[in-house]
Amino acid sequence: MNGSRILLVVSGGIAAYKAPELLRALRRAGHSVRCVMTEAARAFVAPLVLQTLSGSPVRSALLDTSEEGQIGHIELAEWAEQVLVAPATASFLARMANGLADDLPSTVLLATRAPVLVAPAMNLNMWEHPATRANLTTLRARGVEVVGPDEGELACGFEGPGRMSAPEAIVAHLALLLGPSSLAGERVVVTAGGTREPLDAVRVLGNRSSGKMGYALAAEAARRGATVRLISAPTSLPTPAGVEREDVETALEMRAAVHAAAADASIVLMCAAVADFRPANPVARKIKKEKLDSQDELDAPLDITLQRNPDILAELCRERSSSARFVVGFAAESHDLLAAARRKLARKGCDLLVANDISRRDAGFDSDDNAVLLLTPDGEVDALPLLPKPVLAARILDRVEKMRGARA
Ligand code: PMT
Repeated sequence: MNGSRILLVVSGGIAAYKAPELLRALRRAGHSVRCVMTEAARAFVAPLVLQTLSGSPVRSALLDTSEEGQIGHIELAEWAEQVLVAPATASFLARMANGLADDLPSTVLLATRAPVLVAPAMNLNMWEHPATRANLTTLRARGVEVVGPDEGELACGFEGPGRMSAPEAIVAHLALLLGPSSLAGERVVVTAGGTREPLDAVRVLGNRSSGKMGYALAAEAARRGATVRLISAPTSLPTPAGVEREDVETALEMRAAVHAAAADASIVLMCAAVADFRPANPVARKIKKEKLDSQDELDAPLDITLQRNPDILAELCRERSSSARFVVGFAAESHDLLAAARRKLARKGCDLLVANDISRRDAGFDSDDNAVLLLTPDGEVDALPLLPKPVLAARILDRVEKMRGARA
């Protein structure tokens, strides 16, 4: 999403203090940013800060001949490829909804043809007031996108929805709006994280998957315009913008969720580390250590009987009635990467296999980077170097799109 021209409109609420951070995040994401602010916003953040960070003059006055001479309000409105109002106060939303053009920001908003994203921030009661609800309904009906507000402690001392979304969340939402739409209309299912198989009420068998790779795939698919369902085993990661997330814990729960979601999906990315086995006789209560000691000789090994879990990926590939659904499998291998991956691709029957070497310390489980081999059923093998997982996710989806295009 490099190079979009973003007009940041800052209106006058306490959340305006986050505008410099937001502006920096927009610049880091590769955007050119110009900024206008209401008179009230100037009480919360110094224009010079925004001017320094954006590298452009920051304007507030509409009827200032010197400022109008440099960059006219119509020129600003035309320059913008995307308008972002952050924070958007209740008053500013009301003025937008009513088409007022009584200061520079509201005039630019009336004059622009660019899409508009607003990040509301206000007191809880103002947010819930019927007037604000009606104004948002009007704005949404006109195509204005809304991000947030988040829930939490508000500057006014209330607790609830009203906090402006975090700058990174706003930038991620923008990425959805500005990203390529190569997967628009597609339904994509992604699995992520490591399943946990209960042994008793407190103990589980698990693995080291952090979910980072799967979450990066879900975020990238959403950025490309897909409707994404992320079926997630336990992780500590936030849900990517625009992604619908379903939490599961065990392999059997993941199996049910995947089969339900895959029914109308055109792409399934099976990135989760699904446990191959589960304890055969999980106990509903906590197994007491004393009980074990009294039953067994002290220091004698304790046995757990394991039972095989169904292979969800193989089932999905078998049940495909047509080649319409594109299924991607992953393989986590600790040795003989290529040979093991080839065997896995043949056994599972997927359209593309992404194989990672989990013996590497800098890749695979729980790292921020990964290096993979992409294997196709016709014997092609492509090695992708060590890359950040979000970049790798984009490369994997590029390959999926290319293969589907060739198939079509
Ligand atoms: O989550 P991260 O920390 O970012 O790490 C990413 C990752 C290493 C977990 C990921 O890149 C990866 O390799 N995921 C697959 C892990 C795995 O379970 O591999 P496997 O070789 O055991 O399974 C092969 C494939 O079959 C996988 O697509 C898996 O989802 C699927 N499978 C496995 C077992 C099972 N019972 N049902 C399945 O569907």
